[in-house]
Amino acid sequence: MDKPHIFITRKLPDEIIDPYRQYFQIEMWPEEEEPVDKATLQSKASKADAVLTMLTEKLDASLFANAGKLKVVANLAVGYDNIDLDAAREHQVTVTNTPDVLTDTTADLTFGLLMATARRIVEGEQYIKNGNWNHWSPLLMAGRDIHHKTIGIVGMGRIGETVAKRTMGFDMNILYHNRSRKPEAEEKFGATYTSFEHLLEASDYVVCLAPLTKETQKMFGKQAFEKMKSDAIFINASRGGLVDEQALYDALEDGQIKAAGLDVFENEPISAEHPLLKLPQVVCLPHIGSASRETRVKMMELALDNIKEVLEGNEPITPVS
Ligand code: DGY
Repeated sequence: MDKPHIFITRKLPDEIIDPYRQYFQIEMWPEEEEPVDKATLQSKASKADAVLTMLTEKLDASLFANAGKLKVVANLAVGYDNIDLDAAREHQVTVTNTPDVLTDTTADLTFGLLMATARRIVEGEQYIKNGNWNHWSPLLMAGRDIHHKTIGIVGMGRIGETVAKRTMGFDMNILYHNRSRKPEAEEKFGATYTSFEHLLEASDYVVCLAPLTKETQKMFGKQAFEKMKSDAIFINASRGGLVDEQALYDALEDGQIKAAGLDVFENEPISAEHPLLKLPQVVCLPHIGSASRETRVKMMELALDNIKEVLEGNEPITPVS
């Protein structure tokens, strides 16, 4: 009997893929960096039993409508806003993601971004490397404290909780806003549930970790930034679509908020010419929340294991519900 056919939308390391070749016929897009083009993805998906996708691929209704054999889409990310879930459901395609294995790594990066932004680490480095450091002075590159400040976490899922855990070593006061209350987070980390508005008004650090949905789209707009403290720092490690980037730029330019640390953008990759990137108080990263070697390997294996389970007629390990 022919082995089921998997299409993988990026070149992944052979040492990860090879063990799965005994179960599947595996075809990979040959590029490590360049995403697959839409036409190729559509054509490969139309013949595949499974596709392993990156967050860069948009899987829309037309893809599902033309993929008669497709049984499972395994997305290499915890987020899945790139996939039309209604269309997947309509065509009985299981969708899986890679939660849990990336939680600590993404929380580390989120907190690192907060620290880099608060303590002006990137600005300081550029200052030295550009040959500007001629004297030590008392307020040279003075940032703001992290310890004993208030952090407001918007989206208290697994990563939000793990960021809350990180903040305990810094004696921070934790506010959070979430679709529903999280009594375990309140008990374990002393986090206080509050409205979105109050969180914005009361936090020194506002950290966005909510998923991108119709409800959360552009939730950080003009009104949200206006509510924040003038020395507040905004961190986004979720999805760029939650932020109105023009409103963020205006808030930073007008001094409505102090600084921003951004791992994600509305359009990725963001152009180096984008006005946000010209602001010295913005620390930006190329969407690397879960990008440690160890974690990316675990994500790849989990995605492949999800495919294996579904194609063998079992429940997936981490289905998107
Ligand atoms: C995810 O998994 O959704 C992250 O954004 C990847 O870094």
